[in-house]
Amino acid sequence: MTTNADLLSRRNAAVVRGIGHTTPISASHARNAELWDVEGRRYIDFSGGIAVLNTGHCHPKVIAAVQKQLSHFTHTCFQVVMYEPYIELAERLNALAPIAGPLKSALFSTGAEATENAIKIARAATKRAGVIAFAGAFHGRTALASALTGKVLPYKKDFGPALPNVWHAPFPAPETGVSVEESLKCIDFIFKADCGPSGIAAIIIEPVQGEGGFHQAPAELMRGLRRLCDDHGIVFIVDEVQTGFGRTGTMFAMEHYDVSPDVICVAKSLAGGFPLSGVIGKASIMDVADPGGLGGTYAGNPLACAAALAVLDVMEEERLPQRAQRIGEHLRGWLERVRVRNDVVAIADIRGPGAMVAFDIVKERNGRDPDAETTKRIIQRAYENGLILLSCGTSANTIRILVPLTASDETIDEGLAILEKALAV
Ligand SMILES: Cc1ncc(COP(=O)(O)O)c(C=O)c1O
Repeated sequence: MTTNADLLSRRNAAVVRGIGHTTPISASHARNAELWDVEGRRYIDFSGGIAVLNTGHCHPKVIAAVQKQLSHFTHTCFQVVMYEPYIELAERLNALAPIAGPLKSALFSTGAEATENAIKIARAATKRAGVIAFAGAFHGRTALASALTGKVLPYKKDFGPALPNVWHAPFPAPETGVSVEESLKCIDFIFKADCGPSGIAAIIIEPVQGEGGFHQAPAELMRGLRRLCDDHGIVFIVDEVQTGFGRTGTMFAMEHYDVSPDVICVAKSLAGGFPLSGVIGKASIMDVADPGGLGGTYAGNPLACAAALAVLDVMEEERLPQRAQRIGEHLRGWLERVRVRNDVVAIADIRGPGAMVAFDIVKERNGRDPDAETTKRIIQRAYENGLILLSCGTSANTIRILVPLTASDETIDEGLAILEKALAV
């Protein structure tokens, strides 16, 4: 039998160190919120492959749609011979996105490609170069995406100078101690110190910072950014790669706000485990780039488009955004009850909209000092007892829960029972 240890040792010999791994196991198979390793051990999956599996592992409708597409063709390159699943998905995304007016979409493969292309599109539409992003943000690891990403370690260290014309404003959150007013003031400083507003093509923000620790952008910030963009002809881009598709209790997290963006980036749970991303936006902005300037050999792969169409059906049929609300309430209620107990580690802020729930581990009860060591230990203990969990946050002391929205109450409670043990002092 192949063992996890064998595969780990082959991995270490053959695969680069720069690609990290949370657990030392290799998967054999997975269904909904459960995963089995190559030695037959079962795990509850609270990671969803980093926010990709809102519809769970191998949702039968997603698999059936992909199998049907497999029997027709797997690739033509949309730029060479078009196909209906791509066109239909663009139509459905345009109809769903919370942006008024005629919309158009472009499909790609990864989240980083979506954020990069959103910036390219904004630059083409405005004929400007500058971009403002936020500290603590994560927009991907490719050259332009990592320039947008607001975290040096481990995303920028040793990789040379970041691409120019990108500036970061502080993200307002209790953790950063920055208010909305201060954050907007910093953008004003950027306008004065680095690049006037007439040189800024886009402002890009996650409605809820994902890797940054599940901090939700305050409504007042979003209104302020919308105002700035309107005043100066700047494209307002939101990155919904992690928040998208039901996770926050609405299809898009932007539905929680009373302002809308010009462009939205999507990926991850859009295609239930198949590599697909997209940029959706106002047609007047999206259509400026010349033919050939956007796209990619595999961009909008037909198998991934078929999967995404099935994901959108499942979201609607199984009312997954509503289910996310209920899961979120259950998780937050459970965490609140556990937090007051003396036999568990010190848990601080419990936060996040819908089922995008996270909590901080701190050194002392009622304190704010981040405890990254204990956080690591909790994740390791959870894994040893059969629960796959992820951390996040700029101080590496946040535990995030991204359980599939299709998971049964029993499976979620089984996962929470393991988490309870892992949180014990
Ligand atoms: C908000 C956000 N944007 C972009 C990305 C990059 O996506 P990918 O890893 O598919 O390139 C991520 C990935 O975690 C993300 O969370």
